[in-house]
Amino acid sequence: MNTFVQNQTSMKFFIDTANLDQIKEAQDLGVLDGVTTNPSLMAKEGIHGDARVKQHYIDICNIVDGDVSAEVISTDFAGMVREGEALAALHPQIVVKVPMIKDGIKAIKYFSDKGIRTNCTLIFSAGQALIAAKAGATYVSPFLGRLDDNSTDGMDLIAQIRLIYDNYMFDTQILAASIRHTMHIVRCAEEGADVATCPLSAILGLLNHPLTDIGLAKFLADFEANK
Ligand code: G3P
Repeated sequence: MNTFVQNQTSMKFFIDTANLDQIKEAQDLGVLDGVTTNPSLMAKEGIHGDARVKQHYIDICNIVDGDVSAEVISTDFAGMVREGEALAALHPQIVVKVPMIKDGIKAIKYFSDKGIRTNCTLIFSAGQALIAAKAGATYVSPFLGRLDDNSTDGMDLIAQIRLIYDNYMFDTQILAASIRHTMHIVRCAEEGADVATCPLSAILGLLNHPLTDIGLAKFLADFEANK
């Protein structure tokens, strides 16, 4: 575990989906701080076409109070700037999600200088996280599950980025992504990730323990017997 100095009062929970029902369910729980989407998650919900995609982002912003990541599709600087500015203009909660490529870094610097918040996505190394922070990214998204899928401990990357950011007091937030299960969230909390973006199932998994269920059943049974 790291001995980093945390500069915020609480780990943020984002939900990683474009499904409005799941976003509402997480929001109703009262612990949701934001939403991340990507083109794959939008496709999963059947959301396509410029107008429909933009309306969907607005719908998400109207459900949650926090940041909503909306990803650009372009891979060239001019295209990313055009798309990102249009996305940022949709709603004050929008964070422009930009891929970790050369033009993406240039776009993040451009957006940062203009006060437009960004989430640098597809982070798989500490070097990528370092240059994204130098460019002024608001968030970086290391993909834990996809590293784990490739026999590399994704959690080591979180720890490495935490150390680097704390060494230089970068205020870029570590947004742990590609979280697949509940223990990923707990391990992210141990390593000091600023944000975990999770499937609803992983968030709800935090509630579970069989001894809680057994204990509650006993309390209620004793209450009934004592009436
Ligand atoms: O936030 C990124 C995430 O959606 C990727 O997750 O499970 O496709 O690796 P996964």
